[in-house]
Formats: sequence, structure tokens, C-alpha cells
Amino acid sequence: MEAGSWHRVDPVDVPAEGRVRSVTVDGRTVALARCGAGLGALENRCPHQGGPLGEGSIENGWLRCPWHGYDYDPLTGRPPEGFSDAPAAYEVAERADGVYVHLPAPAPKVRTVADVLVETLVAFGITHVFGMVGHSNLGFADAMRRAEERGQLTFTGIRHEGAASFAASAYGKLTGRPAACFAIAGPGSTNLLTGLYDAKLDQSPVLAISGQVPSKVLGRGAFQDLDLTAIFGDVAAWTAEVHAGKPILQIDDTPAAIGRFDPVGAGITGDAALTLDALLAELGATRTEDQRPAVAARWAIWRAEKARRAADERGRACPPRRSSTRCRGTCHTTPSSPSTSVTTPTRWAGTSNPPASRS
Ligand code: FES
Repeated sequence: MEAGSWHRVDPVDVPAEGRVRSVTVDGRTVALARCGAGLGALENRCPHQGGPLGEGSIENGWLRCPWHGYDYDPLTGRPPEGFSDAPAAYEVAERADGVYVHLPAPAPKVRTVADVLVETLVAFGITHVFGMVGHSNLGFADAMRRAEERGQLTFTGIRHEGAASFAASAYGKLTGRPAACFAIAGPGSTNLLTGLYDAKLDQSPVLAISGQVPSKVLGRGAFQDLDLTAIFGDVAAWTAEVHAGKPILQIDDTPAAIGRFDPVGAGITGDAALTLDALLAELGATRTEDQRPAVAARWAIWRAEKARRAADERGRACPPRRSSTRCRGTCHTTPSSPSTSVTTPTRWAGTSNPPASRS
């Protein structure tokens, strides 16, 4: 048997006959089911697409996944005949003092993409997150929990994602610093939208983070599958998705986006003249730098470089093109045959003109 240990199940979590439930044991969840004479404990993750088997039902002696209805034996995890996928099944023992489940030793902790993203948020100065934990954002939620344990982050759970986005928007308005709101894929994400539009219209700095369906089923109509980039595209200044198996989100391009989170110190709505006055008043108190000389110097350098390139030998192998004549070398096509492919010009050594054609 795989190395592991026995863990006692809280008595209130033991299901009645014909029921299954998600039970937390040793910090992990299992699908604990009572069916017929036995108790079964399965990995709480459907082999199909990860559905929570503990939230399913017992139907005709089968444990039915709540997401797409795949059946498994509630005690052994075995699928119906003809199928081969099966969740892991764990030993269960009913003892005098309660029910015990034998779980394998937990996998060693590794630093995940979610850990890196949370570390990046903290580095950018985001310390408060409002949101709701669910199946599609568990990895990120776990990374936030670890950041909380390190004292770097405060997560506030809410009962509706709209409250999370409004809370993050209010945090930004009151402090001038960005907060994050957090949701699951699909409806959890769309619930964020009203608070995010509140932030957009009031120019409050908010970062919205959401789960998404597994990358391999994205765009195929899976449960809670929505094009979140398109959905957030209108309300967000910047949006990106992280996909499994593809290059990880370019962390180094986010500072440009995070830079937009700088607090706005002057109102820029209403009467234009009043707004400009307010803006100028604020600018007077702000350290500014006149960059025009530096910009002019750089333009001068670039113009000189363009002039040098124009004077280079390169590209001057053929005589100047005249609209009605055809170059007799191989480097130009006639104006009347624009779709003909262009042959790479030959570099003629020691002369500015190509040799005449042999034809
Ligand atoms: S995730 Fe369980 S049937 Fe699809």
C-alpha cells in the first residue's frame, strides 16, 4: 500500500445511507459516500474534468458526478463497464470511536504559477483581496492563503462577487491604492462586472482576478466556459489569461498596466476649464521634469542615423527605378507586375551599378 496515514472524520461529516458529501480530512477533501453496507472515500475530483464528486448524488447504486453525470462506484471508484477512468479510492474503517480514512502522504509542496502571481501582486503593493473561493480558483486561493500566513496579504470573503468588486473599488477610492477582487469562472466573473464599472467610471484602481475552466476545454462550451478576456475587455484597462501548457503570463509587461493604478490627484470630469485649473493646481505640487530637451536630443540622434543609413552602400545596387522602365538586373519587378516575387538583390562588389543582363 502507498505510504500514508489514517485520519479521523468529524462525526458530523459522516453521510447517511444513500448520500455522498465533500469532507475535509487532513486539509484535503474526499467524497465520502454511504451506500448499501459500506462507506467509501474517493478522491473528490472527477477524472473527466475535475467535478467535485462529493457534491454529486447516489443514483441506482452509482455515484453520479454533478457536472456531466459520469457514474462511478461510490465505494471503489470503478466506472461502469466499458469505461476505464476512475477516481482514486481510499481505505475507510469504521471504528468504535468513529470513521477513519487512510490517505496517502501529501505531495511535497512546490512553488506554483499562482504563488508567483500572488508574490507579484504583493510586490506591486496589493495587500487586500475581496472575493469568493470556488472550484476554478482553488490554486490561487491556496497561494493567497500562503501569502496571508506570511503576513503579506489580507483576504476578505464575501457572499456575492458584486460585493467584492464594489469593496475593491471603494478601497481604491478611499486610499488611492489598488485592491483586488477575486471570483470563479463564468457567473462568478460576470458578477464582478457592476463593481468593476463603478471602479472604471470613478477611476478607482482595481485588479480583478478570476478562475477559468481548464485550458484543454476552453472555448468548447464546458461548464462555466466564457470568454473572460472579451467580457472584461470593455471594463478593464488591461486583461490577460494564464493557460496551462503555454508560455506563462509575461509578468514583465504588467508594470505598464499596474502603472495605470497610480492615484488620480485631480478630478478630470465636468467643466473642462475647471478641470484644467484643478489639474494645473495639482501639477504645481508635483515634482515634474521637462523631458523636451532629452526627447529632442534623441530625435536628433535618430535623424543622423537615418541619414547615415541612406548614405550606406546597402540598397544602392540598382539604378534609380523609373516607372516606365524595367530594371535589367534581377532585383526589381516592373510596376505592372506587382505580384511577381522579388528576387533578393545581388550585392555587386566594387561598383554602384549591376552588370548588364545577358539576354
Ligand atoms: S467533470 Fe465529472 S462528469 Fe464531467
